[in-house]
Amino acid sequence: MSPDDLKKLAAARALEMVRPGMRLGLGTGSTAKHFVALLGQRVAHGLDVVCVATSEATQAQATALNITMSTLDETPELDLTVDGADEIDHDLRLIKGGGAAHLREKIVAAASARMIVIADDSKLVSQLGQFPLPIEVVPFGLAATRRAVEAAIIDAGASGELVLRRRPDGAVLVTDGGHYLLDAHLGRIDLPDRLATLLNAVPGVVEHGLFLGLATGAVLAGADGIRLMGEVD
Ligand code: A5P
Repeated sequence: MSPDDLKKLAAARALEMVRPGMRLGLGTGSTAKHFVALLGQRVAHGLDVVCVATSEATQAQATALNITMSTLDETPELDLTVDGADEIDHDLRLIKGGGAAHLREKIVAAASARMIVIADDSKLVSQLGQFPLPIEVVPFGLAATRRAVEAAIIDAGASGELVLRRRPDGAVLVTDGGHYLLDAHLGRIDLPDRLATLLNAVPGVVEHGLFLGLATGAVLAGADGIRLMGEVD
């Protein structure tokens, strides 16, 4: 099976958790896209759910599939969010934001009773940090914020290069929230809780891609089948 087939398999298993009447958070990325597509098929056959998207891209996909969409202002409590991840460790800690959507993804996950991660099993790691950690920052004061982020990283016992994320055409990438992204190439994050706390304290940092204590379960698809972690019903 191709990596894309595995993503679809994980998405299909997560769809089994969806019940009529649920309020759902819809993630962003290639794996979440499969989930939204499969959900759209169920909706076309009469499934009644209300959804909140974590990005403009997911909003557009779900709307095109006639999925009933809401906002966190109208629907501030969600039953279940299904989203992908860039890394997941054995304690269900995540790095997210490879798709530049982690700010809204984290807000939606925090508003959800449960968050299920769907991924192919290449995302499972014994230690977080090989994937560059996305740090969303306000454009104003970028150089000063960058220095403060570098200090926070060192304080947390890590080190590595900070790279301002650009689009394929070379322009600086601007997130759905109008911010920039600094990708921290750390290699390993030994103290994710400490790093998260320190980054949260930097003025100019809007949100980082460490999701700690948010995921309640995971569906990981691999060559040997589906692996469930945490609470998946
Ligand atoms: C979006 O910003 C990310 O958090 C995605 O959820 C993450 O990058 C996973 O994407 P894929 O499913 O495309 O690997």
